[in-house]
Amino acid sequence: MRVYDLIQKKKNGEELTPAELDFLVQGYTNGTIPDYQMSAFAMAVYFQSMTPAETAALTDAMARSGDTVDLSCFGDLSVDKHSTGGVGDKTTLIVAPLVASLGCKVAKMSGRGLGHTGGTVDKLESIPGYKTTLTGEEFLSQVSEIGVAVIGQSGNLAPADKKLYALRDVTATVDSIPLIASSIMSKKLAAGSHSIVLDVKFGSGAFMKTEEDAATLARAMVDIGTECGRNVTAVLTNMDIPLGCGIGNALEVAEAMQVLRGEGPDDLRRVSLVLAAHMVSLSLGITVDEAMVRVEDALDNGHAWNTFCRWITAQGGDPLVCQDPSRMKQSSIIREVRAPRSGYITHMNTEKIGEAAVVLGAGRARKEDDIDPAAGLRILKKTGDLVHEGDALAILHTEREDAFEDGAARYLDAIAFGEDAPAAMPLISRVIRAENK
Ligand code: URA
Repeated sequence: MRVYDLIQKKKNGEELTPAELDFLVQGYTNGTIPDYQMSAFAMAVYFQSMTPAETAALTDAMARSGDTVDLSCFGDLSVDKHSTGGVGDKTTLIVAPLVASLGCKVAKMSGRGLGHTGGTVDKLESIPGYKTTLTGEEFLSQVSEIGVAVIGQSGNLAPADKKLYALRDVTATVDSIPLIASSIMSKKLAAGSHSIVLDVKFGSGAFMKTEEDAATLARAMVDIGTECGRNVTAVLTNMDIPLGCGIGNALEVAEAMQVLRGEGPDDLRRVSLVLAAHMVSLSLGITVDEAMVRVEDALDNGHAWNTFCRWITAQGGDPLVCQDPSRMKQSSIIREVRAPRSGYITHMNTEKIGEAAVVLGAGRARKEDDIDPAAGLRILKKTGDLVHEGDALAILHTEREDAFEDGAARYLDAIAFGEDAPAAMPLISRVIRAENK
């Protein structure tokens, strides 16, 4: 096989075989295929796209390019959840112990924050003592005992994707649906869970700005997973408005704990329940309606909360945080941002709100930066609310006066006001399953 011929074939819009895609992926991973040929291939895919069979074969090859996690000891009970990235998205902290309390097995590897979006590993690290690294044996035995363990991505998982993603980043080939879908799914397949629920976000704070693009990406990922023998469902959720009210690591952990105790913002509770119900449905093989009854029950009767406390404690987290979230680090500057005028909030630019949280210290401007676990903001008014000039819109948490000024300016820049109430937006727009093609 010659790489030149495969690039030419893709450039002409022909379908590559699984063996040809495997040749490209393995050759690129072991260094026999150079960056310049792989970037030509990525650009050919960008313009010609790929068939579902090609996308599945590319994903499978990338998933097999390094280590894979073997969760076969949990039979069909292992279940994972992936969010395409959002602002204030702390659902993993809620759904993981919730579904674990019902007998599902969540052996999860999570990522760190990226740009304006937060990451579960950063959030968990705001709990003093929480270990985001476990040995393989510790990881599996905790899942076996408690039903849940969440660690940072470790080992050499899908190295082909790591290399290809970095190449796409500098060759203007990130925004190709088959390449995004195969990139995300290769890591999910390598992480080993039998069932996967994808939270595909759309709107101003999401990677996919429109619902239509999110649906196309969701369909591609569900098809890949199905083709590769996994149970996959995608839920399309709105990220045109931050999820819940807390944005920033410790603030998000505290808010997730509220939901697990039967309190907290309604939108966060609803999205968490829907994601959890789909996870339980796939993992236990019951209908989504039956699963919804069980997850609501587990949230209301305290089983999910107990599982959360056992999980955090088992992973080294300070058990007293469960009784008193203020044991997590607190900011020295906690100050309101006030409305500059009266009117309805007609839109919140969620990406800009995420950036405001980053400048307060909740995220990284550069890869090597440290984050401040206490920094972030709490939203008091959301899209559709009527406010009066001088009303508090949000409370910002930071360590630095200049960061407060910058964060407050960015926050206000993200909010649009108008005379009329905006049309209500659906929180969950649709569910894409393997069978409803
Ligand atoms: N996230 C990924 O993991 N890969 C992409 O290509 C885009 C977003």
